[in-house]
Amino acid sequence: MTRAFNFNAGPAAIPLEVLQQAQEQFVDYKGAGMSIMEMSHRSALYEQVNNEAQALLRELFGIPDHYHVLLLQGGASTQFAMVPLNLLASGQTGAYVMTGAWADKALKEAKLIGDTAIAATTEADQFMRVPSLSEIVIPDNAAYLHLTSNETIGGTQFNEFPDTGDIPLVADMSSDILSRPIDISKFGIIYAGAQKNLGPSGVTVVIIRDDLVKAGSKTIPSMFRYETHAKATSLYNTPPSFSVYMVSLVLQWIKSKGGVAQLEQYNRDKTKLIYDAIDQSGGFYRGCAQQQSRSVMNITFRIQSEELEKQFIKESEKEGFVGLKGHRDVGGLRASTYNAVPLESCQALAQFMTDFQKRNG
Ligand SMILES: Cc1ncc(COP(=O)(O)O)c(C=O)c1O
Repeated sequence: MTRAFNFNAGPAAIPLEVLQQAQEQFVDYKGAGMSIMEMSHRSALYEQVNNEAQALLRELFGIPDHYHVLLLQGGASTQFAMVPLNLLASGQTGAYVMTGAWADKALKEAKLIGDTAIAATTEADQFMRVPSLSEIVIPDNAAYLHLTSNETIGGTQFNEFPDTGDIPLVADMSSDILSRPIDISKFGIIYAGAQKNLGPSGVTVVIIRDDLVKAGSKTIPSMFRYETHAKATSLYNTPPSFSVYMVSLVLQWIKSKGGVAQLEQYNRDKTKLIYDAIDQSGGFYRGCAQQQSRSVMNITFRIQSEELEKQFIKESEKEGFVGLKGHRDVGGLRASTYNAVPLESCQALAQFMTDFQKRNG
């Protein structure tokens, strides 16, 4: 079997070892005579999976005891609403750092619920950078400050995070969770859909500080309350059991690779190959994001003409590359190099880029 060079933006590559392990356990999970998908979520075997996924997240990401780890449904898009539903009270403001399409979607949901403010924006630079910390101005009555740690479409990423004091910092880490060590104690809430760095779609990880669980609105429907899920260790209703199981396997894989710090180095090595191919092309390729804001997860770049970009996609597909077309809103090219994308795929892409340039430069 030939595996594609998978640069999809999400759902994205899952480690081959994980897929093989899931295949082995698919029909008969640990001698139960059934698949994990066929099992009650109240069974001891599934409870183990649920507990292990949460425990591994805690261990690998260094999550302190006074945080809950929740495994929810609805994707990161539901978190765009759940954050303000729980935390944005009347008389308060939801403050947003605008770095592109995803921040904008989060802001739009908050506007449906309460007052909002833009704490910083890089729109004047077409969102091709993240703001410096000194550009971020938080209103006095802010309920929280929300930012997107990695902008999947634009290809920008925060390297440092603001110190927000008593105001909870909320981060959408959908496209860079567990790709590098983070000081969790700086954040009130971190959320991420699993389908980029953690496994398949269907489960959303929420890391939330205890006091924010308690402070959440009591008048919103149960399924939208963080407290509901925290009290039930994410087993309030039927969970996306197969996705949670897959996430637990991916987490075991991350542990076997030496943990998140090791992964960060691996990710940087992978990304460097492709950024070097861009920077050493004498202008044939042009990186979209400004240097200091470049993402280690989503590399966005262009070639002089759209025609050449189309040709690049066509030829790359013939060579076994998948997912190199930029997001439909911005065009151009994008390589997503999440945790599970092997170094070999990045080496192959860098080589392909150099060869393509030789043929067309
Ligand atoms: C940064 C970011 N936030 C939110 C989302 C939306 O996630 P979901 O599809 O899980 O709702 C995405 C999806 O690509 C994303 O990249």
